[in-house]
Amino acid sequence: MEKTKPILELKEIKKVYPGVTALNGVSIDFYPGEAHAICGENGAGKSTFIKCITGAIKPTEGRIVFKGEEVTDNSPLKSMDLGISAIYQEFNLIPFLSVAENIFYGNYPTRKGLVDFDKMEKESERILEYLGVDISVKTLVKDLSIGYQQIVEIAKSLVKDVKVLIMDEPSAPLTNNELKYLFEIVKKLKSDGVSIIYISHRLEEVFMLCEKISVLRDGNYVKSMDVADTTEEELIRTMVDRDLGEQYPEVPYKKSDKVLEVKNLTNKYVKDVSFSAYKGEILGFAGLVGAGRTEVMRAIFGADPIKTGEIILENQKIVNRTPKDGIQNGIGLLTEDRKTQGAILGMTIRENITYANLEGFSKGKFFVDQKKEMNDVTEYQKTLNIKTPSVEQKVKNLSGGNQQKVVLAKWLATNCKVLIFDEPTRGIDVGAKQEIYAIMKELVDAGKVVIMISSEMPELMCMSHRIIVMHEGRISGEILKSEATQEKILEMASH
Ligand SMILES: Nc1ncnc2c1ncn2[C@@H]1O[C@H](COP(=O)(O)OP(=O)(O)OP(=O)(O)O)[C@@H](O)[C@H]1O
Ligand SMILES: [Mg+2]
Repeated sequence: MEKTKPILELKEIKKVYPGVTALNGVSIDFYPGEAHAICGENGAGKSTFIKCITGAIKPTEGRIVFKGEEVTDNSPLKSMDLGISAIYQEFNLIPFLSVAENIFYGNYPTRKGLVDFDKMEKESERILEYLGVDISVKTLVKDLSIGYQQIVEIAKSLVKDVKVLIMDEPSAPLTNNELKYLFEIVKKLKSDGVSIIYISHRLEEVFMLCEKISVLRDGNYVKSMDVADTTEEELIRTMVDRDLGEQYPEVPYKKSDKVLEVKNLTNKYVKDVSFSAYKGEILGFAGLVGAGRTEVMRAIFGADPIKTGEIILENQKIVNRTPKDGIQNGIGLLTEDRKTQGAILGMTIRENITYANLEGFSKGKFFVDQKKEMNDVTEYQKTLNIKTPSVEQKVKNLSGGNQQKVVLAKWLATNCKVLIFDEPTRGIDVGAKQEIYAIMKELVDAGKVVIMISSEMPELMCMSHRIIVMHEGRISGEILKSEATQEKILEMASH
């Protein structure tokens, strides 16, 4: 069989930022009808590589060849014209516009100078039908589940004749069912000759979806492999270049004093939620996307108002009207959405870490103890392995996973008795996940309570001592680690 020609070739791509070589001469070829994963630890250069392809940034050196011809003056518009589309973890949809308007946003068809709504809706229907989904094109995007929003994102990229579809961590917020759907769509696109470039820290997905994997490490190209000829272990070894050992630490637990008690908590999103958490316990929260887990935690923390119910911490009733109250009362919340809630992107790493805990770093009333601050911040940077030339770097210049670690460090610096982690390892690489689990163990060893919301079953079952399951705003079950199976949890999560 004649070997097909690559549709897209990246040649010796280099990108240098002050103090960081994000990409150091990376060459990879992509073929039509093939899904090709780019793997590597946080900060390896994956997103930078993608941005060079889409023209969002200019490489310092290197060439891009599309269908055998060199692309000159690449830009987001130019790459889109060529048929290169990218979807990201953070959606670019407009919530108050309809599905059809979102699909054609920026490309509205016109007739006699006016937007041709008829044509737009018909075309949108055609695209959704191709993708095999049954939603009305008149629905407002804000009323769709995250899974469907993801599909609208894909539909958007099909308005133009797409040749290369890039997905940078597309599956992060999806449930298992939604994932299956996404896989079907990717398969269909592949069979129509589209070349897929896929980035995800969930390695099972890479193995299910892709034919090829290329590995980046510290901005360097390491190697490309055929999925059929490799294993997850080998991939991890290639990515991290060291032996990781056991993924989950042993965290022993003996029932001890009650620290937190939540009684009949009710608000706009959740109904009659009651549970307790004990000293030294890791308490897991399971449920499908939208089950109300985040909403319970936001209410406890003081980020959302409570209608009725009580929160009791160490035998005292507390009232958290704002997150500031929550922190003062000893409750910390690591949010799932670090872009909008967790990190302050325009501030430095140091400022972000000390921000929730200025008191802990003050000398007297008005002065920040700069020496202690610097020591502690550097210590966190080391333990969490935050990849940066300096703690004075702005958080917005860090890779996605490293931003998440900064948010984590911020909460570790506080003196909270209860730490709530909402999807703590989303977008985090295998090595760093292990570091985060080790930190959870340290926290509970020190007598704190850790509450963890997670959609990753293995993590939930291996790390939690007890798991509470939610469904539609209520608690639908509870299960001990020793009795937990994936089937039992899913069963409780679905009614
Ligand atoms: N605008 C910028 N200014 C300075 N440094 C940057 C900038 N953008 C990226 N970097 C650095 O380039 C390196 C590669 O980052 P990149 O975002 O490509 O990593 P990644 O592989 O996508 O990681 P993740 O898995 O965490 O998303 C990192 O060290 C990052 O801090
Ligand atoms: Mg990235």
